Amino acid sequence: MNPVIKQMHDHRSIRSYADATVPDDDIRAAFEAAQCAATSANIQVYSVLRVTRTEARQRLVELSGGQQKVADAGAFLVICGDIRRHRLLADRAGEPCIENLESFLLCAVDASLFAQNLVLALESLGWGTCYIGGIRNDLAGVSQLLELPKGVYPLYGLCVGKPDEAPWKRPRLPMEAVLFDDRYPSDEAMLEIMDRYDDDMAAYYEKRGASGRRWISQMESFFASPRRTGDRTYFESQGASLK
Ligand SMILES: Cc1cc2nc3c(=O)[nH]c(=O)nc-3n(C[C@H](O)[C@H](O)[C@H](O)COP(=O)(O)O)c2cc1C
Repeated sequence: MNPVIKQMHDHRSIRSYADATVPDDDIRAAFEAAQCAATSANIQVYSVLRVTRTEARQRLVELSGGQQKVADAGAFLVICGDIRRHRLLADRAGEPCIENLESFLLCAVDASLFAQNLVLALESLGWGTCYIGGIRNDLAGVSQLLELPKGVYPLYGLCVGKPDEAPWKRPRLPMEAVLFDDRYPSDEAMLEIMDRYDDDMAAYYEKRGASGRRWISQMESFFASPRRTGDRTYFESQGASLK
């Protein structure tokens, strides 16, 4: 394995952090590397808020459904899609800046390519990370707290800090479930692959002391009811159009 691939294999989400600040030099080195990610037509429709105020971090714990790591991590970043810069340019030039579902997807895709590059760079510097989708539990609250202007769309948070745990590596689906040559597999084949993966995950949970837990039963209920139904109303109030 080359060192980059080895680093990627070493990934684990870190949910418990030691008391240590993340030096600005490391954050900046990681950002510089992360910004090298490909970006649709070089539009770079993302930005990041680093939340440093203790009270704001504590409030974000609540807004994220009580995730204490949001306050404990050395640094907490909010990854946003960002069309505001393009709005400013369009306004100055007297041009329209039309948003639609495609422009929102560009934000989400560009921001996520950047964010995963950032995670990899930070992990290579020895820092632990954990994405926090929990901030979408209350996007309006997050937006108000951070005073986000129109055209800036918070997507998820990111804890960064010194790991205070060494979690087991979580098994992923076998490659046959995600890489297909020329033709998508039959439903029967896919179900059979997932049944096998379910056994791997059961063994993983057992090792972690959560015996009886299984992946398939979690997945069966994951989309059983709509999740975070306020997303659309919030993003539209923030200036997005999802049509
Ligand atoms: C966009 C995104 C949001 C996530 N949100 C949370 C979260 O709110 N809280 C949490 O503990 N983990 C969160 N995670 C971490 C996932 O649960 C984790 O990546 C997954 O279970 C696989 O485990 P691993 O990263 O240790 O391999 C999130 C991951 C992603 C990609």
